[in-house]
Amino acid sequence: MKSENIIYHHATVTRNRRNQENGHKSVVLWFTGLSGSGKSTLAHAVEEELFGKGCKTFVLDGDNIRHGLSSDLGFDDADRKENIRRISEVAKLMIEAGTIVMTAFISPFKQDRRAARELITRDDFIEVYCRASLATCELRDVKGLYKRARSGQIKNYTGIDSPYEPSENPEIIIDTDLEKLEESVSKVINILKSRAIIGF
Ligand code: ADX
Repeated sequence: MKSENIIYHHATVTRNRRNQENGHKSVVLWFTGLSGSGKSTLAHAVEEELFGKGCKTFVLDGDNIRHGLSSDLGFDDADRKENIRRISEVAKLMIEAGTIVMTAFISPFKQDRRAARELITRDDFIEVYCRASLATCELRDVKGLYKRARSGQIKNYTGIDSPYEPSENPEIIIDTDLEKLEESVSKVINILKSRAIIGF
């Protein structure tokens, strides 16, 4: 902690008031999985569904955040950890702002996901594991990056020469190589209903 003598100022427009005004609660849906496992596609599809029903939503997406907030970070273990720490803090703020936040980052390390869950707190954190196999992701290779990683042009590529630690206790598992997108969207929407985050 570098900043000292900082005193927290409590808002009068609180999260609860925002949630009441919005007609739904705020939460973080934390999508994790290999590059190309469908995290962004699913997060944006869920957002479409929720936004269409009038919810306040936002997707924090790996590739986009690395153009701005995390543009100074690379892909070694320490930088990935810092990336996830920043995203967790942003997501936590967005919950206070009344938003249903979807984060779509590889977030390959169990310990970093656990830290995110602890920071955001348990009830506000729903982990969605996009469980496509490496073979599937590599076959899709939408961005051509697996090919470049295999040929050694990219170092520390997740699944190739940097690990992905599978999610062990996710609230939702999505087999993105087996399920239809609409099925996966329904699974996510259903957990939001069952937790009374949304009421429709
Ligand atoms: S994370 O590990 O810190 O969570 P993040 O989700 O932000 O990763 O970024 C992953 C995206 O960056 C991938 O979808 C891919 O397009 C791109 N990328 C570039 N280099 C790498 C790499 N070495 N490992 C993984 N993804 C990479």
